[in-house]
Amino acid sequence: MAQLWGGRFTKETDKLVYAFNASISFDQKFLAEDLQGSRAHVRMLARQGILTREERDQILEGLDGIERDVASGVLEITDRYEDIHSFVEANLIDRIGDAGKKLHTGRSRNDQVALDMRLFTRRNLCELDAELRELLEVILHIMEENIKTIMPGFTHLQKAQPISLAHHMGAYFEMFQRDRLRLQDIYKRMNYCPLGSGALAGTTYPLDREYTAELLGFDGPTENSMDGVSDRDYLIEFLSAMSTVMMHLSRFSEEIIIWNSNEYRFVEIDDAYSTGSSIMPQKKNPDIAELVRGKTGRVYGALMQILTTMKGIPLAYNKDMQEDKEMAFDAMDTTKGCVRLFAGMLRTMRFNREVMLASARHGFTNATDAADYLVRKGVPFRDAHGIIGRVVLYCLDRGIAIDDMKLEELRQFSPAFDGDIYQAISMQTCVAKRLTIGAPGPEAMAREIALAKSYLEKH
Ligand code: ARG
Repeated sequence: MAQLWGGRFTKETDKLVYAFNASISFDQKFLAEDLQGSRAHVRMLARQGILTREERDQILEGLDGIERDVASGVLEITDRYEDIHSFVEANLIDRIGDAGKKLHTGRSRNDQVALDMRLFTRRNLCELDAELRELLEVILHIMEENIKTIMPGFTHLQKAQPISLAHHMGAYFEMFQRDRLRLQDIYKRMNYCPLGSGALAGTTYPLDREYTAELLGFDGPTENSMDGVSDRDYLIEFLSAMSTVMMHLSRFSEEIIIWNSNEYRFVEIDDAYSTGSSIMPQKKNPDIAELVRGKTGRVYGALMQILTTMKGIPLAYNKDMQEDKEMAFDAMDTTKGCVRLFAGMLRTMRFNREVMLASARHGFTNATDAADYLVRKGVPFRDAHGIIGRVVLYCLDRGIAIDDMKLEELRQFSPAFDGDIYQAISMQTCVAKRLTIGAPGPEAMAREIALAKSYLEKH
């Protein structure tokens, strides 16, 4: 056991206690961030005259060496060290001797880990944002190709009114775009540097916190040192945003699973994104969509865990906060991975356009339009609603659509029906006539697509 403390102690830590307390098995994930933070810290210390230039250069060289040796496998991160911070410091001292002992001047592991976690979260936030951008590109492409692809729109999972596939996809574009806006917003709030907060009350060394913050790409230092070491709001916000991403992906997955079912056949998931059954040879299962739907629970779990961990912690740092890592790391990997896989599945998925059209035609999705037609011919809406209701019942008995009825048949329900009814309630007309902002009509869709495109060009 290589510990950073000991002077005050007369006994060795109990082995089980040591293992229980240690975090190296998971915080080694942010070695890069730990090194990045240490580099900025020594640069600042030297600039302030707290370390000499020689000491700074020796430390920087030592840190580079650690990075190189871990990457090449010469140096192994083992549980001999309590955490990644001890690992780096102990190795630095092994390498360069006394100068290494000065790295931690004016720093505490409390502000060090606060910094590492923030840097790591910031990097993951940017990576997730890039994955979401890719997904939006895929969705936009499907929108552009399918302005004229008619399908039923649903409420209560019952066919409601005809829409276009572009319109349906556009709804998801909005959702994932909002997810990106949320990330952008979180980034702005979190991008302040906690290093220099010390253990809780700053330090007596004349640190230039503005400079350290600048070196690390932050907008400035955090303001209050007690908050600096004990704030994990940014992580909670990020987990909440990831939970929302997963909720969106899960809804989308649910639809794809339904659309891919034998009964619907709206889509066919590519072989590369499907799996078979060990016993039923005919099976091609939408496992990826199901797994994405299932993994949503893990991310929600991580959000609940950190909220619960933080809720009873007095200021400032408490060891409870070490629990901010494992589940959050898992949530970050899970969410990024799910967005990436989902985008791939969507990109390679085939849409059965004829099946979608036939489904819209045979689900009375034009019933509202038929009622509106009668209204235009002078029938009050409530009467028109009743007439079309009876027409639907008549069709259901015969297994036909409204458009399949002859004009004489229609006239038995209302003399207001004319030859122009067929044009008025064709699927194409029903969609084309929906022209308000946000509707599936081609002009409204063209506008929506243009907005989506210009968003992606700029962001
Ligand atoms: N492994 C610790 C964590 O993740 C690092 C900070 C330790 N600080 C302390 N005072 N024991 O929170």
